[in-house]
Amino acid sequence: MNWVVLVGSIRKGSLNAALARALAGIAPEGTTLEILPSIAEFPIYDGDIEAEGFPAPVTAMGAKVAAADALVIVTPEYNYSVPGGLKNAIDWLSRLKPQPLSGKPTLIMSASPSTMGGGRSQYHLRQVLVALNAHVMNVPEVMVAQAHTKIADGIVTDQGTLDFVKKQLAAFATFVKKAQAGDAAA
Ligand code: FNR
Repeated sequence: MNWVVLVGSIRKGSLNAALARALAGIAPEGTTLEILPSIAEFPIYDGDIEAEGFPAPVTAMGAKVAAADALVIVTPEYNYSVPGGLKNAIDWLSRLKPQPLSGKPTLIMSASPSTMGGGRSQYHLRQVLVALNAHVMNVPEVMVAQAHTKIADGIVTDQGTLDFVKKQLAAFATFVKKAQAGDAAA
């Protein structure tokens, strides 16, 4: 299975990017993970730009999401919600036809220095993904709280976090297989 990973932060020292990079080492056997290019390459959504033609980073990411078996979104929380850059990327992707997130098995996780772990952004993100008809796994949820104590120099150092995320990825692999079996039966 090929999963693509969308990171909601563009910062070099991003805790969420570090979490995203850790996934390949703990994903179930037979799964390959590819971190998608930075959402920083996307212009702010503008219907006039769209009318001239989709920017290359948008079509490239859309093609990768469309071709993948599943999508993993790893994102910070900004002001109790989805970072504007991530929302912007999703808005662009939502304009592609066929829309690449429709029916796509999707997993969300977040990391934050706060004790909440970015959970509030996850619930706003879930709402946005309803509009795109993404097939989002509900549980188990992963919210890495006090992430600055669990990630150092871009590496997830906390074994408990890795163990917990590993369980979520295993559950997601089952979720993806069930979704694909359902599609085949339909
Ligand atoms: C934050 N941060 C933050 N954290 C949180 O848990 N809840 C919040 O509502 C916010 N709001 C917020 C707004 C803005 C504009 C910024 C820049 C930051 C803190 C945030 O979780 C922290 O900066 C993370 O380290 C950002 O994620 P990355 O870049 O490390 O992945």
